[in-house]
Amino acid sequence: MSANATATARIASTASAAVPDAERRHRVRLYALYVLAIAINLAIFIYGFDYYKLSAMDRPFSPKHHLLRPSGPIGLYLGFFGVALFVGIFLYPIRKHWPWLATIGNTRHWLDIHIVMGLTAPAIIAFHSTLKFKGLAGMAFWIMFAVSASGVVGRYLYGQIPRKVTTAELSMRELQDLQAQLSQQLAAQNLLPEADLRALLRLPDANRVARLPIVVAIIYMMLLDVARKFRVARLRRHALRGSAFLTTLAGFLPTRHRAVERAIHAAAEEAALSKRVLFLSRSQKVFHLWHVVHKPFSYAFAVLALIHIGLQFVLGYF
Ligand code: HEM
Repeated sequence: MSANATATARIASTASAAVPDAERRHRVRLYALYVLAIAINLAIFIYGFDYYKLSAMDRPFSPKHHLLRPSGPIGLYLGFFGVALFVGIFLYPIRKHWPWLATIGNTRHWLDIHIVMGLTAPAIIAFHSTLKFKGLAGMAFWIMFAVSASGVVGRYLYGQIPRKVTTAELSMRELQDLQAQLSQQLAAQNLLPEADLRALLRLPDANRVARLPIVVAIIYMMLLDVARKFRVARLRRHALRGSAFLTTLAGFLPTRHRAVERAIHAAAEEAALSKRVLFLSRSQKVFHLWHVVHKPFSYAFAVLALIHIGLQFVLGYF
């Protein structure tokens, strides 16, 4: 078997193979954490809604005031929970500097947990503050909120940069081989039209991308990701029969046709990877700038939060 054929067989089996156990366990835990975080926030919101909508003047007369005010039993526990989340959030950057911590688990899984906590913390702190953001603590809250919101952009960019470009190029070649092979097979079976497969892989010219202003390039990248979803759906629609149009939401969800799904998966992976490599220098530059903002703001907000906690301690709230 030639090297190419071996690589093709490897990728083909990877594409169709089940997700490894460790990855599946991580995903299950991650989804469970998201469900838990949403449930906790929803429960507090529903319980406290009639209190939170009162004005500052009326709140002391509410029967829930002694529980929900920042120094009340629920309010205080929300504050402690927020602090625990911050400690958890900062474990991700600390791990980069502590070799013993870096040996535990895998970086992407740590980042996933960093993100759940980073998205949950602002909501928990908002409830702790009873949705009133004033003074030093208010300033800390808004910085935290901005850091958290900027994290979403950072996560997108993080996903755009293949960890090793050489690996990306290698697997892209492998994916191209597999995709060519599969599309030939599929063309023979008359399942997916070649023209639509090619449209999926269509990318702008490299020189044009290099000349785009950086912000436009990033928006362009995002639009290509959205367009790819529509192109995949269009591709899939060719293989849909009868009620499958409805059950797959017009091709946006996978069909039960394994051969079609394997070909679509391979082509979509190749398209995504080619796009990442094409935009690599731009996304690396923006990601570097993003770090320059995300990091100092994170530390600034941590300092403000520590001052806030210290002040409450001095004022005797603990
Ligand atoms: C209160 C909220 C958050 C704080 C305080 C925080 C703090 C940090 C810090 C200090 C770093 C390390 C920066 C560096 O090493 O240069 C980091 C990295 C990162 N954070 Fe956050 N973060 C928060 C929320 C989020 C959220 C909500 C997301 C995504 C939705 C996110 C995504 C990321 C990403 C993608 C990285 C870079 C990973 C890497 O390059 O290794 N963060 N964060």
